[in-house]
Amino acid sequence: MATDFTEETAADAVIDSFAKTPDPRLRELLSSLVRHLHAFVRETEPTIAEWEQAIGFLTATGQKCDDERQEFILLSDVLGVSMLAETINNRKSGGATESTVLGPFHMIESPRRELGDTIDLVRTGPPCLVRGRVLSSDGTPLPGAELDVWQASDQGFYDVQQPGGQPRTNGRGLFTADADGAFWFRTVVPSYYPIPTDGPVGTLLNATGRHPYRPAHIHFIVTAPGHRSLTTHIFVAGSRYIESDAVFAVKKSLIKEFTPVDDPGQAARYDLPSPFSQASFDIILQPNATA
Ligand code: BEZ
Ligand code: FE
Repeated sequence: MATDFTEETAADAVIDSFAKTPDPRLRELLSSLVRHLHAFVRETEPTIAEWEQAIGFLTATGQKCDDERQEFILLSDVLGVSMLAETINNRKSGGATESTVLGPFHMIESPRRELGDTIDLVRTGPPCLVRGRVLSSDGTPLPGAELDVWQASDQGFYDVQQPGGQPRTNGRGLFTADADGAFWFRTVVPSYYPIPTDGPVGTLLNATGRHPYRPAHIHFIVTAPGHRSLTTHIFVAGSRYIESDAVFAVKKSLIKEFTPVDDPGQAARYDLPSPFSQASFDIILQPNATA
């Protein structure tokens, strides 16, 4: 016999409808989603016009997505959900380097480069050396660790945002650490930059009086056999917006000094003009759990 749909029983009725879902995790996720979504609607009591506006916003978010643009990830980022999921999935353990968001600009393959190469194909910004070691939690170096790095230009744009304006793969490189787990590469000190605002996420930021900026940073994905892969950034100490990242991704341990080096000998050694900036970043990977 059919039961009446009421405000009080609506969530349970929908959750009961999932009772025969063969995959228990899917049943758990859908049931929790419905419980929270119904609680949100009961709490805020949206008008029909407001609900239609919400559906229109999500529709526009989907319509803004294509092979080079992922507006739903951006929405998840500005709502802090990407960072929450990232943090839950990488609970710090054994002193491993902290993770942070992947972001939407790791969309093309980084070219393989030699240690010491530059990832800056434009040569307009302040020159910089980034160096460090990749180590396991117990301090053992990880020779052959792979480091995929990417960053915005000193003007605050990724190569893929300026096709024709920047060479493709500018600001990107895939490096292999040496026998001591050491790595070093040349680049420019990156700039803070706005996340894309020409879509629904920009409208949301505008409507809520929020700025769209991310503090200056360099992205890393670091992998080594037998260890958990790490997705992270280093942030430039003192960068604008370091206290108010639009995507909530700053962790204090990832803020690094980009220190001026005024030493012509060092500059010549690394084929850099003098003075240059240097950032040091030792990366600690967590061994895979053993059974
Ligand atoms: C980024 O750092 O590339 C990024 C992360 C989240 C949203 C937009 C950009
Ligand atoms: Fe970025």
